[in-house]
Amino acid sequence: MSYSRITGTGSYLPERVVTNKDLEKTMDTSDEWIRERTGIRRRHIAADGERCSDMALAAAHQAMEMAEIEPEEIDLIIVGTVTPDKIFPSTACIIQRRLGIRGCPAFDIQAACSGFIYALDLANRQIQTGAAKTALVIGSEILSRLTNWDDRATAVLFGDGAGAVILQASDEPGIVSTHIHSDGRYEDLLHVPEGIGTSLEGLLVEGAFIRMDGNAVFRRAVATLGSIAQETLANNGIDKHDVDWLVPHQANLRIISAAAKKLDLSMDHVVVTVDEHANTSSASIPLALNTAIRDGRIERGQLLLFEAFGAGFTWGSALVRY
Ligand code: UT7
Repeated sequence: MSYSRITGTGSYLPERVVTNKDLEKTMDTSDEWIRERTGIRRRHIAADGERCSDMALAAAHQAMEMAEIEPEEIDLIIVGTVTPDKIFPSTACIIQRRLGIRGCPAFDIQAACSGFIYALDLANRQIQTGAAKTALVIGSEILSRLTNWDDRATAVLFGDGAGAVILQASDEPGIVSTHIHSDGRYEDLLHVPEGIGTSLEGLLVEGAFIRMDGNAVFRRAVATLGSIAQETLANNGIDKHDVDWLVPHQANLRIISAAAKKLDLSMDHVVVTVDEHANTSSASIPLALNTAIRDGRIERGQLLLFEAFGAGFTWGSALVRY
């Protein structure tokens, strides 16, 4: 059995930046409330006409450049997203076409904010079994299009962006282990109510935006991220003090701080981008990872713990020797 390693990372953020102060002008909120409750200062918002695949492709090109690979070498594409260009075909197939390659499996995975971890889990297993050698794994989201800009309880929380990694077969880990879970009982606590529905009459525009019971999600996220970290370390017989960097899903700085505290990890060893990016769902971990690799904080050989929690509920983690 082979292992897989991250050989390249990349990301993309839309040009337009919306600060908390900008939001103060359009809704009953304040920079102070947003910073204190979430840690968010600004977010990037996609331009009209900009699509999930545009952002994903830009992130993919950066990752491919770092890994020094050509598109023809990619034999698996997985995109984590809840905001695909189209209901079908998958954004992964659109990326495949835009990369000028064909034949390899390409599909999207919908696991909300845990989408990247789910995608990484699947790609890692494909490489472990020898079914793939070079995988392009992307998280890309345009959550601004699922945001009700009249609902201050959710509108201040989300942003747009994409992150990508290249995973390649290797004799050594690499990805040490991945863990994914879900529990569908919590559907109504965090959801976009409208989908395909059961009839044409059922398609109501007001149901087309994110709805969340923030408090309940917050409590569950803190408890679940604590237990997934525990599960990951125990599974590998690793002490929490061996983790060099926590790269968590970026939903709320208070959730991230609670996760770090449980690991006895100082915030100096936690990659935080929620202040700059807000919550970008499945894009948040690869965006944070790429930021900390490119600014030199994360170095080769270090042990990284990724962890995510999102609608479903879904949650997951990855222990990675970078
Ligand atoms: O990525 C997937 C997972 N998602 C998450 O993990 C998000 C989890 N939840 C959270 O991060 C937090 O629950 C929120 C940031 C969403 C909310 O923070 P909170 O500390 O739980 O605040 P709250 O919902 O209890 O609201 C406190 C007050 C309320 O006013 P009253 O009832 O105390 O008078 C809200 O109406 O803050 C009010 N409020 C706001 N005020 C100013 C809610 N949103 C805003 C706002 N600006 N944007």
